[in-house]
Amino acid sequence: MLARSVARKGLGRQSNLRLARHLTSCAPASLFCDATRPDGSSRVQLRWLHSTRARKAKRQTTIDLDEFPQGAIEVASDKLPPQDEEPEYPPLLQQVRNNMLKFSHCVLLTRVGGFYEMYFDDADEYAPLLNLKKSKRKTQKGSKRPAVSMAGFPAYQLDRYLKILVQDLSKHVAICDEFVNEAPKKAKGELAYTRRVSRIVTPGTLIDEHFMDPWENNYLLSIHIDPKVLKSPGSVGVASLLNLPRTEVGLAWIDLSSGDFLTQCTDIASLPSAIARIKPREIILDTIFQDPQHSRIVSVLQEDGHIITFQEPSQQPLTVSEWIPMLEAVVEDFDIDDFNSSEVAAGGSLLHYVNHQLLGSTTRLQIPVRHQADDHMSIDKNSLRALEIRSTIRDGTFEGSLLHSLKKTVTKSGTRLLIQRLSAPSMSLSTINNRLDLVEEMIQYPQLRQDMVTLLGQTFDSLRLVTKFTVGRGDADDLVELSKTISTTSQIAESIREHVVSRNAIPIDPTNAATEERRRNCLPVLEKRFELAQPQQLAKRIEDAIDEEGLSEQHRIEDDEAAEMVELSQDVLGREAGEEDLKPLPKRVQPKPHMIAPSFKSAADGREDVWIMKRHSSKTLELLHGKLDSMTQEKIDLEQKLRQLIGTDSLTLKWTPNLAHIGHVKGKDVARVTKFYPKSLSSSKSTRSFQIPEWTRLGAQLDETRFRIRNEEKRVLGELREDVVRNLVKLRRNAAILDELDVACAFALLASEKGFVRPILNSSTSHHIVGGRHPVVETGLRDQGRKFAPNDCLTGEKERIWLITGPNMAGKSTYLRQNAIISILAQTGSFVPAEYAEIGLVDKVFSRVGSADNLYQDQSTFMVEMLETAQILKEATPRSFVIMDEVGRGTTPEDGIAVGYACLHHLYHVNQSRTLFATHFHALTDMTRGFEKLGCYCNDVAEEPNGSFSYIHRMRRGVNRQSHALKVARVAGLPEEAIAVAADVLAQLKPVQKDDADASQTSSSYAFGA
Ligand SMILES: Nc1ncnc2c1ncn2[C@@H]1O[C@H](COP(=O)(O)OP(=O)(O)OP(=O)(O)O)[C@@H](O)[C@H]1O
Ligand SMILES: [Mg+2]
Repeated sequence: MLARSVARKGLGRQSNLRLARHLTSCAPASLFCDATRPDGSSRVQLRWLHSTRARKAKRQTTIDLDEFPQGAIEVASDKLPPQDEEPEYPPLLQQVRNNMLKFSHCVLLTRVGGFYEMYFDDADEYAPLLNLKKSKRKTQKGSKRPAVSMAGFPAYQLDRYLKILVQDLSKHVAICDEFVNEAPKKAKGELAYTRRVSRIVTPGTLIDEHFMDPWENNYLLSIHIDPKVLKSPGSVGVASLLNLPRTEVGLAWIDLSSGDFLTQCTDIASLPSAIARIKPREIILDTIFQDPQHSRIVSVLQEDGHIITFQEPSQQPLTVSEWIPMLEAVVEDFDIDDFNSSEVAAGGSLLHYVNHQLLGSTTRLQIPVRHQADDHMSIDKNSLRALEIRSTIRDGTFEGSLLHSLKKTVTKSGTRLLIQRLSAPSMSLSTINNRLDLVEEMIQYPQLRQDMVTLLGQTFDSLRLVTKFTVGRGDADDLVELSKTISTTSQIAESIREHVVSRNAIPIDPTNAATEERRRNCLPVLEKRFELAQPQQLAKRIEDAIDEEGLSEQHRIEDDEAAEMVELSQDVLGREAGEEDLKPLPKRVQPKPHMIAPSFKSAADGREDVWIMKRHSSKTLELLHGKLDSMTQEKIDLEQKLRQLIGTDSLTLKWTPNLAHIGHVKGKDVARVTKFYPKSLSSSKSTRSFQIPEWTRLGAQLDETRFRIRNEEKRVLGELREDVVRNLVKLRRNAAILDELDVACAFALLASEKGFVRPILNSSTSHHIVGGRHPVVETGLRDQGRKFAPNDCLTGEKERIWLITGPNMAGKSTYLRQNAIISILAQTGSFVPAEYAEIGLVDKVFSRVGSADNLYQDQSTFMVEMLETAQILKEATPRSFVIMDEVGRGTTPEDGIAVGYACLHHLYHVNQSRTLFATHFHALTDMTRGFEKLGCYCNDVAEEPNGSFSYIHRMRRGVNRQSHALKVARVAGLPEEAIAVAADVLAQLKPVQKDDADASQTSSSYAFGA
């Protein structure tokens, strides 16, 4: 597989060069990885060479060969790896060089003892970016070779540096870990440790890294399009792509941290909106799209700042049945014929990539869910932005967004569900009503809600927890968290059961029996979905097995060690900066075996015994602990016996790292010992250490028992892990129910706090909103002690389009957005900010608001406006809801009016969508007089005789031809002289008509100096 990363926007010149280097140098990665000879033998590397040359010839890259870490290969003969004239590098560096060649598209981090190190070019390039000290080291004394650059950081800081490399710099990072070589290998003269790249981390393949955003999904998306469709000699612009005939596009995306797996079949025009909804961290495309002939899709994706990885298509694409080994063990509701060919292609390439990045680790994804466009309201890319659903337009912050004001969820995965629902509201009346029932139930029974929220707050992110176990991770702490979550889930189920019983005892009010019956049913239905029997057994096993006290003691020790490591790392880095040869590291940071569960320490390290498993958790453990106890007693007895025999009270039986098992005395006892143990191992004036054969024998047995206990603990832990994976499907299903409860409680709280009402949804194409409000603006105003003026919106059968005029700052834009938001909230399953809301289902929400340019992509302000408008006029249906704010303002008034009119005309006659259209081109109200189903509405300014004024934010029927722009200009602080000039000009530019009654003129209603 060929993997290349294209970093996103904001690359400086230097980075571009680096990027180019990646483009040409990364080709070999997969050739190595796919090869059956992972030792980097000449056959494999030759293939790599050819590939590079071919690419170089084609791309005419003019980068200095010195830039390539593998530069020497260009002149190498058939024999590879690169033969250096000088003796080879020392084994560690040779391993690093080999790995750098194998994974040349990655930054390589090599574990060396307690550190991760970068060498050669990686150190040169990334040490400054990571703020690490770089040092140079000769490989051998007197060597002619240039000194090798190196830079590193303590291993426990891996996450911190991964974050910078992967998340901030969008790099692919290969992590090369240390594995203990078994004794037979060591005997053959191999190193004590082998280093192997165990994982490649990319922005889209995070599993449990601490820097991952817990509140959002971390999606990796694969896009499949027939490249032939994109092949066109014309413009590479986005417009040309969106104007292509309808073309099927397959999407597949996963979140490796939660196991979510989804697919969708869409078309090229809807692609940007689908991607905006999914919000992937990384996108995989076939390498063919790097070809300038096909690269229009890349331009579209880059425009939105996405990180793209190119992957050479696999020779044999995975079929759906070949996905199964990577899925959890439920196949009954998984029909492989459901997926169409483009989804299969996207899914296949996605799993191919994941397999490669995990380098052989397995994963158990959830059964893929097809995202059917018809089942969801589509919120186009511009609406997501314009309605500030996830972040504000102005500075892209979360604070101030709709989500921020809605987020009352208490769990991380509940928040992820909230985001998913809000980005793709439902189109199913029954789904929406079920969600609303649950919310209403939680409003009506605040105590139940309070209990739920308290219990949910005690759960852990079980979706991410269990998924960790499927990729061979997850330690004792994770198990404890999981078992606590299972217990809490049982309590939640119990609370619901109790609620249902007491609720059923109350007779149903016959006046609204049907709705009441349905609502009563929502909690029992939800409760029945819990599958608790086996998970509870698992929780019990975990509880019985893991010794939480031991575990926290273990953590205390680890924390102490980490603190020690910080000190040491300062020392070591200090020395490296001094260009001193790296001496063997102090004993305490000598390489430790690679451990999946870091809670285990090596056996006989002389510390107090700290066990993380309870002794009764397995028969063997019980036996071994019994043995250990009796041996410990034997030791005490022996000590006692020796003290009496020799007459030395100070005698202790000890273990030290250097002398192993020894007897130790001090003071006057030193002399007494000599008679019995003449041979001393070490002595000082007042102490003496010596060997006691019985203690050496017993000590060795103690060590062995401890070692066996550790191993048995590991085995039991492994069994528990397997148990978790066996319960995977049930645990995930339970987690999903908790998420639904969390979202329902959050919406209930929101509705109670903010006075939202339950919307009534139907299949009409009308909006009947009374007293609607903008939830975010309202909160903002309230914080300033101001009130929000509610407004009605009655679009649909009678008046399909509302054409809105009025002064600047009077609230037109706010009104447009609030109605789109109310629709979205309703179909998400939330109550809405209004006094009453009856809404016909909306299939798509479109927004054309604000203006921005995109000069880099060859798009002026007006071009952007027209692109967005074009999209709406092409896609909106009679079931859609469109808001258009000041279309046509980016050009001359005449042109603007013409474009504005054309849009209204098209929306009215062709799209027939519900539309709110705000404009300062008052002529439009005159021009559309013949549009029967178009109503004119406006808001006003109230002027006082003393010159003061206020905005009347209430919408009324009619047209307001006064924009009162100068009032806003004055408030904004335009110099008075400038205001005076403007007022003069305005007086001369008197519009021919001033009020509503006299409105026969059309577009040319302005006269200068008349
Ligand atoms: N219904 C309302 N009640 C109270 N204040 C409101 C209301 N609507 C808007 N506002 C306030 O007025 C400000 C301006 O609103 P908005 O941007 O919607 O005006 P506008 O009519 O679109 O102006 P312009 O024509 O300049 O674009 C808002 O930021 C808000 O503070
Ligand atoms: Mg506005």
